[in-house]
Amino acid sequence: MNILILGSGGREHAIAHKISQSPKIGNLFVAPGNAGTSQIATNVEVGVNDFDGIRTLVLDENINLVVVGPEDPLVNGVHDFFLNDSELKNVPVIGPQKAAAELEGSKEFAKEFMMRHNIPTAAYQSFTSNNLEEGYAFLETLRPPYVLKADGLAAGKGVLILQDLNKAKQELKAMLLDSKFGDASATVVIEEFLDGIELSCFVWSDGSNYKILPTAKDYKRIGEGDTGLNTGGMGAISPVPFADEIFMQKIEHQIVKPTVEGLKKDNLPYVGFIFIGLIKVGDEPKVIEYNVRMGDPETEVVVPRLKSDLVDVLVAMSEGKLDQINLEIDERAATTVMAVSGGYPEAYEKGKEITGIESIQDALVFHAGTKLKDGKVVTNGGRVIAITSFGNDFKEALEKSYQNIEKLHFDGMYYRKDLGFDL
Ligand code: AMP
Ligand code: GLY
Repeated sequence: MNILILGSGGREHAIAHKISQSPKIGNLFVAPGNAGTSQIATNVEVGVNDFDGIRTLVLDENINLVVVGPEDPLVNGVHDFFLNDSELKNVPVIGPQKAAAELEGSKEFAKEFMMRHNIPTAAYQSFTSNNLEEGYAFLETLRPPYVLKADGLAAGKGVLILQDLNKAKQELKAMLLDSKFGDASATVVIEEFLDGIELSCFVWSDGSNYKILPTAKDYKRIGEGDTGLNTGGMGAISPVPFADEIFMQKIEHQIVKPTVEGLKKDNLPYVGFIFIGLIKVGDEPKVIEYNVRMGDPETEVVVPRLKSDLVDVLVAMSEGKLDQINLEIDERAATTVMAVSGGYPEAYEKGKEITGIESIQDALVFHAGTKLKDGKVVTNGGRVIAITSFGNDFKEALEKSYQNIEKLHFDGMYYRKDLGFDL
């Protein structure tokens, strides 16, 4: 069968890599892809939000299934676009329709969903420019730190955590009145600060049945010791050592089951990946956020641990037959370390030649922000390449990731050397 993956990051390269190993795959396309995906699939210069371009590609290449990598096209309704087109409507799309994608597209929608279905999360209230004063009053009832979240998509930057009450009020005003995050902050969710350790849980749903994938932990801050600015993710570890069986049962019963059942009750068809951002407070899991896609770089450790044929799993998802699949998982630990451009997550330069990729051994190389230029692989983003390794435990796996990443080189390359420090 022919498959199209939408996206261009390490997540999409890891998914493409796994799909390319299936005996069921015919032609594999990635739009727009990167230098890594071009080695195992056909890259097509079509953007993830160019629905007409995607339509032409799917029809011209007889695509049988589409996997959506990032959230943007889902929130913009790419799945609905397929369902509403007489020639595309029978091509399955892995990724929810627009209405359910609001779980990521609107924090307020997600909070209301969790309240409705009794899913544990931080207490909250939401505000607009019409009730700014009430927002100030609500902040006064909370203890620091104060958590302010722009309701809409803000490229991962829309969450502010502030120690000072006056600063929190100023920021609330900037978000609501001065459009600090554009339209995304026309509504702001203010919530209780949860103190604990975070992990990512991935659920694959066919709308009724679900499978829970291995847990992962990502490292979001740029600096060692979890300091400095937030990034898309500097590396990840799977499984998460503190997520033992009892904790996983709590996650399944208190969060995963009510989420899948809640989507069904609310008449929100969901064929796709659900990424639940969790925090362990004491011994209890609470939801920080939903994403309607896989995590990046978590995918670079979770998908390589999947031993089952990914094409079989995706087809079962699209046919409502996930209950017939037995997910086989590699028992070993996997880690990934991300090499990023100097300056990231602030301004950085692109187009730096990357060398040393061919000397990497006993590890997987997933390209994130790369492209081919005059036959050379050059940097094309903030996050550039992720090196994934296996080991009997995360320390052994990390050692291999670090030994290999040292062989890579590009001007300004940086990576965190302390992953796993908190475990
Ligand atoms: P989000 O975009 O919702 O994932 O938030 C970004 C980050 O902010 C999360 O990964 C957490 O580290 C942090 N965060 C969000 N909400 C809370 C909360 N209620 N309590 C503590 N930390 C939070
Ligand atoms: N690694 C976090 C994310 O994909 O949002």
